Amino acid sequence: MTSSIWLFGYGSLIWRPDFDFNSSRIAWVDGWSRRFWQGSHDHRGVPEAPGRVATLIPLIGERCGGMAFEIDAESAVRIFDQLDYREKNGYERFQAPLYFDDGNQVEGVFYVANEDNHAYLGPAPIEKIAAQIKRSHGPSGSNEEYLRNLADALRRHKIEDDHVFSIESGIIAR
Ligand code: BEZ
Repeated sequence: MTSSIWLFGYGSLIWRPDFDFNSSRIAWVDGWSRRFWQGSHDHRGVPEAPGRVATLIPLIGERCGGMAFEIDAESAVRIFDQLDYREKNGYERFQAPLYFDDGNQVEGVFYVANEDNHAYLGPAPIEKIAAQIKRSHGPSGSNEEYLRNLADALRRHKIEDDHVFSIESGIIAR
């Protein structure tokens, strides 16, 4: 029997998993919260005008919902190599338990861009984040498309996220 690795996606992986997987399930990581605090110089912005993309920040009492992908252990090295390259702008792999809605739990891997990385932008008022996302574009497309795809996917999966939805409202209001 082949063993599996669970990869947790909370950003673009939720709506654009460009790798093979055996199954996917909504999952949660405890003690983390999604924030648009990571700069994107290579995908949704450019070095002179970075966009903002999601990272996870450690926050006691919070939990972040996303999608867990079950991948073959044999494929994992290749998939992680691809993702390490795709997400080379400051993200590192992290390991922690993932919780499913049925109460089951598995060990998962996810990517986190922490405040020590060169592209980190950190917190800003929601209106400023919305304005930066609205005006940013990069080789992978507009920053607004990234935000809207993420918000749509979260709604589809019934995952609440005040941070994401308030940025989306801020963009619509502009
Ligand atoms: C994600 O979970 O969608 C993700 C976020 C940052 C880097 C890689 C993957």
